[in-house]
Amino acid sequence: MLFMIVVLLTSVSSGSTLCPQGELAIYKVTMETDWSLEKFPKHYPSWRPRAQWSKVLGCTHNQSFRLWKLGDLASEGLKLFAETGNSNNLVDHLSQGRGGIFDVFSAPAVFTGVGTTEGTVFLDGNHSKVSLISKIIPSPDWFVGVDSLELCPKGEWVEQARIGVGPVDAGTDAGFTFTSPNWELKPRLKISQITAHHPSHPANSFYYPALRKLPPLATFKFVKVNLYNLTIDVMNTQSVKQETVNQETNDDNQGAVKVIDLSNDNSQNIIEKSVETISRNVPNLQLSDEPKTTKLLKDKGMKKRKKKLLFKELRQNRPRPCKVSEWSNWSACSKSCGFGQMTKIRKIIKSPKRGGKPCPNLVATRWCGSARNCRPLGAGYFMW
Ligand SMILES: *[C@@H]1O[C@H](CO)[C@@H](O)[C@H](O)[C@H]1NC(C)=O
Ligand SMILES: *[C@@H]1O[C@H](CO)[C@@H](O)[C@H](O)[C@H]1NC(C)=O
Ligand SMILES: *[C@@H]1O[C@H](CO)[C@@H](O)[C@H](O)[C@H]1NC(C)=O
Ligand SMILES: *[C@@H]1O[C@H](CO)[C@@H](O)[C@H](O)[C@H]1NC(C)=O
Repeated sequence: MLFMIVVLLTSVSSGSTLCPQGELAIYKVTMETDWSLEKFPKHYPSWRPRAQWSKVLGCTHNQSFRLWKLGDLASEGLKLFAETGNSNNLVDHLSQGRGGIFDVFSAPAVFTGVGTTEGTVFLDGNHSKVSLISKIIPSPDWFVGVDSLELCPKGEWVEQARIGVGPVDAGTDAGFTFTSPNWELKPRLKISQITAHHPSHPANSFYYPALRKLPPLATFKFVKVNLYNLTIDVMNTQSVKQETVNQETNDDNQGAVKVIDLSNDNSQNIIEKSVETISRNVPNLQLSDEPKTTKLLKDKGMKKRKKKLLFKELRQNRPRPCKVSEWSNWSACSKSCGFGQMTKIRKIIKSPKRGGKPCPNLVATRWCGSARNCRPLGAGYFMW
């Protein structure tokens, strides 16, 4: 089995039915290789070709799919990749979209025994496992890889995970050493772990009988870089547009009319005038100082009305919150391949006044799309 150095995961095999639906997780995948002459002196390939690694090929998938599995027979695609580093068959296989694959990714080759390469991988609640491989070059049919690593155990996406791995034999070539000539195995053997003692043959390039176990040949690191809730809107900040200024003028009239509607007074016209005067020209003026209302105030019951007017004025001077329209429909997704955005908008009906509650966001964005929409693989989103 794969041996783990530091694993922040609990389980590699358990199902993750608890993993949140409607979430999109993005992880950075890093392969750090440690195939050095110091750690693996035996047969160390330093010339034609020197020790190096093919590109990393992988996918994210659901609980059913297996890219490779110890004890299984290698697929045609895996055979070709493990023997030659040619990923065409494997990519074809993956791109058919069968078997619950969500995202297919690759990371550039490492042209030295010790090096680093990285890529980005997408997962969702139904496809929270990741599998990947990189061929050991030169070798008969050996690779390193990860088989179905669960990144969402216990219903939560892990922040990061590290997994140290050793060499694996695809079982399709009988060669024992890095530079063995091609010698096809018929029938194939099962995919097996190469250890310091297995295959138990002194000719084996990784045979180190004195070691208890091999140091890790490569380490895969997964770091969560982003998590999107596909069901929640991402709000964009948008400043209030110029067009709302016109609306504001109308709003003033509306405000005045509203005040009149609220008053039960017979002398509506007069009050309307005074209120308009107050609100438009001298908003801070006390009613008692307003010459046009002085006469009115002499009348019986005028005190009551004055109170009312003052009240209305206070009302009118109160902060007015922003009022916005309903949301528009969602736009179409900006991308049909890969992850795009859809947006919806709303408009300002009444802009805020006198320090009233400011307008909320006028544009909402939601993530959409899927890696699965990409046909053929390699075009568009996936750059190989
Ligand atoms: C996404 O956001 C919505 C709204 O806040 C919330 O109800 C839901 O639980 C979130 N989903 C996930 C998977 O976090
Ligand atoms: C996950 O699978 C369930 C059941 O098959 C389905 O209803 C749901 O839409 C899927 N979720 C995603 C994010 O694909
Ligand atoms: C994985 O996906 C495949 C193809 O969509 C589906 O047939 C299979 O049932 C899925 N497995 C699980 C455990 O959901
Ligand atoms: C929004 O979508 C609904 C339902 O599809 C449709 O009936 C309506 O006409 C759409 N509205 C606009 C403004 O496009």
